[in-house]
Amino acid sequence: MIINIVELTNHHQPMFNVRLHVIIYSILFFGCADRSRPIADANPYQDKVDSILNLMTLEEKIGQLTLFTSHWSVTGPTLGEENRKYIVEGKAGNIFNAHTAGYNRELQRLAVEESRMKIPLLLGSDVIHGHKTIFPIPLAEACTWDLDIIQKAARYSAMEATASGLNWNFNPMVDIARDPRWGRISEGSGEDTYLGSLIAAAKVRGYQGDDLSDHSTMLACVKHFAAYGAAQAGRDYHTVDLSERTLREFYLPLFKAAIDAGSGSVMASFNELNGIPATGNHFLLTEILRNEWRFQGFVVSDYTGINEMIPHGFAFDLKNAGELAVNAGIDMDMQGSVFLNHLSESVKEGKVSETTIDASVRRILTAKFQLGLFDDPYRYTDTLREKEVIYSEEILSHARETARQSIVLLKNEEFEGRKILPLSKSIKRIAIIGPLGDNKEDQLGTWHAAGDASKVVSLLEGVREATPDAEVNVVHGCGFTGDDRSGFSEAVKIAKQSEVVILAVGENYQQSGEAASRSELDLPGLQQQLVEEIANTGKPVVVIVMAGRPLTIAWIAENMPAVLNAWHLGTMAGHAIADVLFGDHNPSGKLTITFPRNVGQIPIFYNMKNTGRPFDAGNKYTSKYLDVLNEPLYPFGYGLSYTQFSYSEIELSKSTITLNDSLDVSVNITNSGDVTGSEIAQLYIRDLVGSVTRPVKELKGFRKITLQPRESRNIHFTITIDDLSFYRHDMSYGAEPGKFKVFVGTSSAETKEAEFELRSH
Ligand code: NOJ
Repeated sequence: MIINIVELTNHHQPMFNVRLHVIIYSILFFGCADRSRPIADANPYQDKVDSILNLMTLEEKIGQLTLFTSHWSVTGPTLGEENRKYIVEGKAGNIFNAHTAGYNRELQRLAVEESRMKIPLLLGSDVIHGHKTIFPIPLAEACTWDLDIIQKAARYSAMEATASGLNWNFNPMVDIARDPRWGRISEGSGEDTYLGSLIAAAKVRGYQGDDLSDHSTMLACVKHFAAYGAAQAGRDYHTVDLSERTLREFYLPLFKAAIDAGSGSVMASFNELNGIPATGNHFLLTEILRNEWRFQGFVVSDYTGINEMIPHGFAFDLKNAGELAVNAGIDMDMQGSVFLNHLSESVKEGKVSETTIDASVRRILTAKFQLGLFDDPYRYTDTLREKEVIYSEEILSHARETARQSIVLLKNEEFEGRKILPLSKSIKRIAIIGPLGDNKEDQLGTWHAAGDASKVVSLLEGVREATPDAEVNVVHGCGFTGDDRSGFSEAVKIAKQSEVVILAVGENYQQSGEAASRSELDLPGLQQQLVEEIANTGKPVVVIVMAGRPLTIAWIAENMPAVLNAWHLGTMAGHAIADVLFGDHNPSGKLTITFPRNVGQIPIFYNMKNTGRPFDAGNKYTSKYLDVLNEPLYPFGYGLSYTQFSYSEIELSKSTITLNDSLDVSVNITNSGDVTGSEIAQLYIRDLVGSVTRPVKELKGFRKITLQPRESRNIHFTITIDDLSFYRHDMSYGAEPGKFKVFVGTSSAETKEAEFELRSH
């Protein structure tokens, strides 16, 4: 064991100035980490953790429960005097927003060489959709419905982030959102619990891999616990009031899926839930997370979330806020300094027991052991690896693949006898018009971590590379805000001189994300007017909408012949869009969020209830609006292809099943068009009568298949009792005998259907 210390010292740093007790725990622990254990197993590090804990002062323990952001300058993270002092004094056991191998190595050096306990740091960051190579925003990526692609993107993100000194990722963000006014809808997978849960687990597996102590894997942090996406009126940080049934049925399963996949940490949300801020919510953090789900990892507050319990009207001062947080189940204070400044006093006064503090410290030290940081605190800070991994060909190529699979074709009609898309590569004059035409930074979308705009392939660059012989002109026409129309005439002029116009409109990267709620979801600024001016030229126009959320584009949907929803696709955006525009990739993305016709329809989502007066055109007194349809502009699961798929009727293996049975559901899908394409076939169920009413449709399965022209394939789904279960009247979870409908189709609104019955025996 001593040899291990010497090896570590020789390879990575000058000799530790070790005190006796540090030598003791080093002898016990360095080199002994069991790297294969998943995070939720019985704690194999218990003895090691306890022997460290026994040597710590209360202040040092509180230091482990403290997380501070790194300082920043224009050139990147810088080591402020305050951070240095906190780390060396053992008052900050964790830092976030710090990256680059060299800088993070220095932070670790301070912790393991200059602090008394020499405990390595957790180094966290928001690697939401990539670290340097930026993948599509999560809402876009979800539209691939491809768990392998998503897991691989998370894996690559972790490879880059860990090469850059990070060991902890504040992701996946799994908040169900049914209100696109909420800017953070961009960060999650959309409105569906079933799909979202699978994506949450895939991301955790991608970040954490099979071996958390590997130098290319990092600790995941599932967030924001819980129900943050249900903020009233879509206004960020706003109040959430939800029934326990809705919470458990729609919002919590994604967290559970991430935790079951091994997520080592959880972040509490900013919002209050039914009157209690999530940060001080014993029901969420202890009763559900610890007692029901047996979560073994640690819980971090969100940024100053503890302090915010004062304006919430839940705590009377900071000391009280800290007590409420830690006693509810928060283990670590992000940025608030509340634990640092007040917790020891609370312990001395008996308001918080030292046993509670010890339990939190144990969880955090355990995570550090699992990451292998006690073996080698510098394992994530290899500058050579950083150079090799970041922006490697392999990662960029996966970013391009993910981006093109994320694009959703919303409309493709004929213009002068031929479908507009895909465009011919022999077109000679192309106009790209709109504020996103040659723009790079906005393609990165919200939370683009350390993403570098100069590395982004703009739409213009993508189109130019795909059509080297064409003359491609670009003009903005207008910006994202303001009322400057001075660019309109130039835009109209180049449109008229071109064979085709590509209109690149939408939101900039700051118009979605945190603190970016909007009350109108139209194209911001003068873009709608620009679209109309260009439409008036009579030229064939392809509209590409790039945004962090669904926009209300009813006019475009009605009046423009071809529309692609291209979100914010990240570093390889331009290539990905050009691949789709010119037919090198046949689009297959399907919406994972409903597109409303107007803001008045919100909240609108596919798995709504039927009501006692479902809409009936012949009856005034049914559920509807006077001024807009009930149907959305584009439903959940919708997305076109350059080919067409036809579905046979559904075949069921039987018409009745019992509680221990399962049911085989099959359909035959044919590619009836002329080009190869991928289809995402979706299976939904409806429980027709329940002890509580059930949604009109619930997604319970999907298959993504690729078919050659005129190829057919039979696809099968298995429905089990689990798929039919829900929180019944008495809140027990299970299925109820009775009739069910099963639907299979190309979107939630276009399906074949069949019926079966569940019998108790
Ligand atoms: C606040 C955000 O709500 C959270 O998602 C993020 O992880 C933290 N800030 C840290 O950046």
